[in-house]
Amino acid sequence: MVLALSEAAHRFRAVSSTGMSDPTSKSPASTATDTVPSVEEALGRLQMPLVEAMMTQRAVRRVLPDPVDDAVILECIGLALRAPTGSTGQNWEFVVVKDQRVKEQLAARYRQAWSLYGGIGKRLAGEDESMLKILRAVQWQVDNFTEIPVLVVACLRAGVREGRIPYMPTPHVGASSFFGSIYPSVQNLLLAARAMGLGASLITLPLWSVTSARSILGLPLSVTPCCIVPLGWPRGRYGPTTRRPVEDVVHLDSYGNRAWR
Ligand SMILES: Cc1cc2nc3c(=O)[nH]c(=O)nc-3n(C[C@H](O)[C@H](O)[C@H](O)COP(=O)(O)O)c2cc1C
Repeated sequence: MVLALSEAAHRFRAVSSTGMSDPTSKSPASTATDTVPSVEEALGRLQMPLVEAMMTQRAVRRVLPDPVDDAVILECIGLALRAPTGSTGQNWEFVVVKDQRVKEQLAARYRQAWSLYGGIGKRLAGEDESMLKILRAVQWQVDNFTEIPVLVVACLRAGVREGRIPYMPTPHVGASSFFGSIYPSVQNLLLAARAMGLGASLITLPLWSVTSARSILGLPLSVTPCCIVPLGWPRGRYGPTTRRPVEDVVHLDSYGNRAWR
């Protein structure tokens, strides 16, 4: 495992986010086919080196309508649960949506939010082709939301132990601990999906109305929907990710001291 990681790190060094000479920190594209693997094949892919999964994990919104086996979904969520939570509360709940009627209701909410945000996004994007490409991918996801085989809705239970008391204003540290208790698990889920070759993305717009999301999903008031990870076997290939170089975002001891630039 250690050897595999160091080999992968070596392979990706030229494009790693620590590459001082690389201004855009592009990770390499990775392959994916339009075919659906068997459960055994998908689970076997979890042996992918961690660095490779991290360097190629990205929002893959265009997916096939073919079903994703429950064993694959549960493996993703099982690996998500290896993540930390505030006070080790493990107050996460994952609603796996496969029912067409539930998807339709969430799709309607996504369309509403996108009609506003998408319009703003298009105006801001102007002629920027990379932004326009993302907007086209989101538009595809909005238009085809009900065809996506699985939507994993990541939720958190609120409680005193979790730093959140319903209807009480939450101090910054409580809010940070509360929402910070779902995203490490979601990133684990995304990495597991990436390794298995699933297309996945992290989205929040369909949940813009928490009241409506609770009603659609039958969530009690004590459970907050945080984000959705749509899952499916990808159409086409994974593209490369582009990220800011590490030296642009790191400060030594005090904000503004760009010691590594
Ligand atoms: C908190 C959060 C909310 C997001 N919400 C949405 C969303 O509602 N719809 C969407 O298409 N992407 C959403 N994204 C995904 C980002 O747009 C995505 O990370 C970005 O496009 C980068 O993609 P890449 O990893 O392929 O480079 C969200 C990401 C985060 C972290």
